[in-house]
Parts: sequence; structure tokens; C-alpha cells
Amino acid sequence: MGKNIVEKILSNHIIEGELKVGTTAGIIIDRTLTQDSTGTMAYLQLEAMGIDKVKTKKSVAFVDHNMLQQGFENADDHKFIQTIANKYGIYFSRPGNGICHQVNLERFSVPGDTLLGSDSHTPTAGGVAMLAIGAGGLDVALAMAGEAYYIKVPKVVKVNLNGKLSPMVSSKDIILEILKRETVKGGVGKVYEYGGEGVKNLSVPQRATITNMGAELGATTSIFPSDERTKEFFIAQNRLEDWKELSADEDASYDEIIEINLEELEPMVAAPHSPDNIKTCREEGRIKIDQVAIGSCTNSSYEDFMKVSRILKGRKVADNVSLVIAPGSRQVMEMIARNGALGDIISSGARILENSCGPCIGMGQSPGTDAVSIRTFNRNFYGRSGTNSAKVYLSSPEVAAVSAIYGCLMDPRDAEFDIDFKDISTESFIIDDSMIISPAEDSFKVEVVRGPNIKPFPLNTKLSDSLLGKVIIKTEDNITTDHIMPSNAKLLPYRSNIPYLSNFCFSTIDEDFSSRALENKGGFIVAGENYGQGSSREHAALVPLYLGIKAVLAKSFARIHKANLINSGILAMEFENPDDYEKIDQMDQLKIENIFEGLKNSRIKIKDLDKDFDFYVKAQFNKKEIDMLLAGGKLNSIKEKVK
Ligand code: F3S
Repeated sequence: MGKNIVEKILSNHIIEGELKVGTTAGIIIDRTLTQDSTGTMAYLQLEAMGIDKVKTKKSVAFVDHNMLQQGFENADDHKFIQTIANKYGIYFSRPGNGICHQVNLERFSVPGDTLLGSDSHTPTAGGVAMLAIGAGGLDVALAMAGEAYYIKVPKVVKVNLNGKLSPMVSSKDIILEILKRETVKGGVGKVYEYGGEGVKNLSVPQRATITNMGAELGATTSIFPSDERTKEFFIAQNRLEDWKELSADEDASYDEIIEINLEELEPMVAAPHSPDNIKTCREEGRIKIDQVAIGSCTNSSYEDFMKVSRILKGRKVADNVSLVIAPGSRQVMEMIARNGALGDIISSGARILENSCGPCIGMGQSPGTDAVSIRTFNRNFYGRSGTNSAKVYLSSPEVAAVSAIYGCLMDPRDAEFDIDFKDISTESFIIDDSMIISPAEDSFKVEVVRGPNIKPFPLNTKLSDSLLGKVIIKTEDNITTDHIMPSNAKLLPYRSNIPYLSNFCFSTIDEDFSSRALENKGGFIVAGENYGQGSSREHAALVPLYLGIKAVLAKSFARIHKANLINSGILAMEFENPDDYEKIDQMDQLKIENIFEGLKNSRIKIKDLDKDFDFYVKAQFNKKEIDMLLAGGKLNSIKEKVK
């Protein structure tokens, strides 16, 4: 039996376990990436492990999230990352060089290699056939230290793309269609592998838009083959030596198959407040809009901005709309600046932001009260824009740019002008890696610079056999990591300062959570379905750890967040009978006994002392996870190992 692409890469990298769906396997990681927001912590953890240099083929530290310098904090963090990268053998992409996933795709991606990134949109690199997975900062630090990364061997879903997209329908609409069918939790435990005749009609940046937003399916990752179109991209990036062909065998088998006829797709949007709330533009109608934002790691390629400039050329942004654009990298910015496209964009009345995440992370450009914002981004969770009352729609660059001109949401096919997208691809990008700093040869001489905002990494204590505590919060379904640990512009500078951040844990849904946790010396969290969905933010586990949270009992968890909780030594367990969730109230006193025995049996009994009833939770952890939980988290267990 032949192999699919995922099986080929996994079998080349497996060092522990077997490739049996649902079992845990350890794979070796070739490359890593971090961004600044999660990077500061990852590097503090790497440092704490006591190794001299990273053991990966190449590791890169990007700065793209916390770019505003309204105080010393961000600048200090950037300097810390730059110096620690220099010391540990890590490449440093300077602030202003671009968004990690865009720059990684352009300058560092390699087909067939594994990539672990401390950002949930790391799967973007699947656009060039990398097996690229988002993880917590600690997992990335461990990969840099040469440790295996443990994954649940995923099911592989083949997405068969047939035909060709119609004019004004874009690859964003392909992933929106898949989100409509599969929902934000449909991809858990799966990799989406793209194939079919339609693939050859998609360029690498178009493929990367799809693999980027595959993260919103909850998928482990998404991947395209590496073919002639991929080769063209590598030639244009002057990196042919990094390219190799990679495709599924003819007789490869898959766990599921999805068929998509590209010709039938229409321009779509993800309506507020979830990436799977999909409507066609015509269905949603011409609603009045206030803001349009084009950029983010989903849609900020050269090709995207060339399309946008063609739409805006000779036209003006509507009076009621603020249009902001943020190219994904310096390469993209420089190219559109030199070929005149940026001039057309500026002349339309657009506001130009720097090459970074910007509004996607709520770092500026929050919409006004009750405003409607159309964004080419990947997430529109409640409050993420920085304005709770705002309604954010996610769309393609074509929908966004045409809507900016009309002042309302538009199906771009209904525009009263014709746009010609011919000749927008390029055969050679501008290559200038001068903003990527190579690490020092002699690392012993490098001094790591630490500002006062860099606080020590919080460590858990060894797990006890019994726990007694209160339910500090009971949440609903689909709680995101943004709910647990908001990451608005005011808080982002404090990513390396957990004590300060702890004041804001759950603050968007429960202002008193953190004081209640402190008063009660920690306790438990009770949650509904899909707890911890959204970004890979490790802080959503580290801050509860700092506040003394010992266990989270949920109907179900999002994959990365569950791993982050376990890494922090917090018991993440699912209700055996989801109805028990209803019986528990906030501030109920819970008693968990015989935990060690329960971990062996994958099942733990809990007593609700206020309601006087017992219930069971699933304690399904592999051997390594159990060791970690017993030691009080992964870093404690690695420290023990190094000792
Ligand atoms: Fe940045 Fe938003 Fe992507 S925060 S990495 S542009 S999801």
C-alpha cells in the first residue's frame, strides 16, 4: 500500500511509537519558529534547560506581534530575544522584517521537513509541503533542545480540489467552504491533505492561505504537495536548492475524503463571531461597514496586495470606511513600493501599517463602538479586535478591497467595474536577508540582555495524591484562549511578566476571577465543550498555574491548550458523563482523592462536597504526560532528567 504525504513525512521523522491513528508518537523536529509574544517565555524555558546551543537544523526567532513601543517593555523584550537568539544559535528576524509565517514561507520553508512553531498558524508552511505544527512555547523549547515532539498520530483527510476558481473567488473561499462543512472543531485529531487536479491551479501563497486557516478547523495541520508550482515559488525566492518534489503515492489511502468543486464556490465571509459562521456575500447582503483591514498571516502575500492594488487603482475608499493595510513582509512591502502598486493603494486613501500582525492581534486599529469591520484575517472571535461591540467579518482580499470602495459588504462579482488580475505573479522576488541576523559563532561571549519586564518562569509543585478546592469559575462552551488570557494591546507588552498578567485572567467574562483564585489559594475550573480553542497561547495555562489552578474539568478540550495545561502540571480531564457538568456550580467545593491510582486507571473519581454527589472524569494521559503531571509540569520533569 502506498503512502500519503503525511505518512511519508511522519515515517521519516518518527523516533518513538508507531504510526497508528490515535496513538502517541514521538517525532524529531527539523526546524522551529517563535514569535515575540510566545517567544520570550519559550527562550526563558530553553535557558532553564541548561543546554548550550539549539540542536535543530534551523531555528528562527521572529518579532511581529508586540510592535508598539509606548513604554520600555516591548523594546526590552525584543532585545532579550535578539541576544538570547544570538547566544543559542538561533536566527533572528528583526522587527519590521515581517510576520513570522509569511517570512518563514518566503525564506525558511523546506518541503518534507518538520516545523514546530510557538504560534497556532505555523501550519501556513504546509503550503509548501512542510509538516508544520503549532505548539506551546515549551514544546518548541524542547524541540530546540533536541527532544522529540509527541503527537497523537492524526487521521488524514484528503481534500480533493477539482476544477478552477471563478474570477473574484479566491483560495480564502476554499478554506471558508471547508470551515462551513467541518466547523471549528471538525478538524481535531486530523491533518487535511490537499490533492486533486485543482491543486495545480493554486499558487504557493494561495495554498498557504488555506493551510494557515486550517488552524481554525482545530486540525493538527494541513498540507499541500510540493509540485511544479512549488518549484516556481522556490525559484522566484532564489532557493531552488531547498525545493524537492513530494506527493502522495497513487494508491495512498485516507481516513476521510472531502470533494470540492472549485467552480461552484462563491465569495464568502465568516460572519461574527466565529470563523465557521459562513455566509455567501450575497446572502449576507450589502451591510454598511466602517473599517476594512487587509493583511495578517492569512492574506498578506505579494499576490494578495497586487490584487488589492488593481482593485483600488484610480478609485477612492468610501467616506464611511477606514481602510488599513499591512503587507506581510518587508519583501512584499518593498516589491509593491518599487513597482508602484503601493502608490495606487495610498492614493485610494488607505492607511499603511508596518509589516506585522497589527490589528489582527488587537495591536492598534480597534474598530469604533458597534462598528462593522471586514478583515482578511483568520479569526473573528468576540472581542479579539479590541472592541467588544464590533462585528468582524473575515473575507478574501478581493471582497475586502471592493467593499472598501463601496462602503458596504460587496460580492466583488457585483462591482460595476472590471478588474484585470493578469500578470500579477512574479518570477523573481526581491531577495534581501539583511534583516535576518545570524547567530554568534562564539556564543560564550554573548551576554543576554534582560529588562525589568522579564520575570521568572512560574513553576508548579509536585502533584499530590488528593486535592481539595473550589470551582473558581464555571464556563460555557467554546471558551477561547483569548477569554482565558486576553491579549489586547495593553497587555501584550507583559507576556514575560506573568504576575502582572494574572490580574486579567478571564477578565472579559468574569472580572473577579483572579481575586477569587487568590483568596481561595487556587482551585479548579469547570468548562463546557472545546475549552481553550483559538491561539496556542501558553499564557492561558501559565497564568492559571500562577493563580493556583490545579485541574480543569471540561466536556472537551482544544488540542494545543490541553497540551499546554499538562505541560504546566495542571490536570486536564473530561467529564465521563457530560450531564455532570450541569450539576456543579461555581464555588462548589470539590475533593479529588486517589489521584495516583486514578492516573493508572485513566479514570478519577471526584466528590462535590456541596451537592454531595460523586462523578468520574477521564484521566487519559500517556506515560510521559503522567510523569509530567506527577513532577509538576514538563520543565520540572526535564530538569529532573538533566540532573
Ligand atoms: Fe499574527 Fe494574526 Fe497571524 S496575530 S501570526 S497575523 S493570526
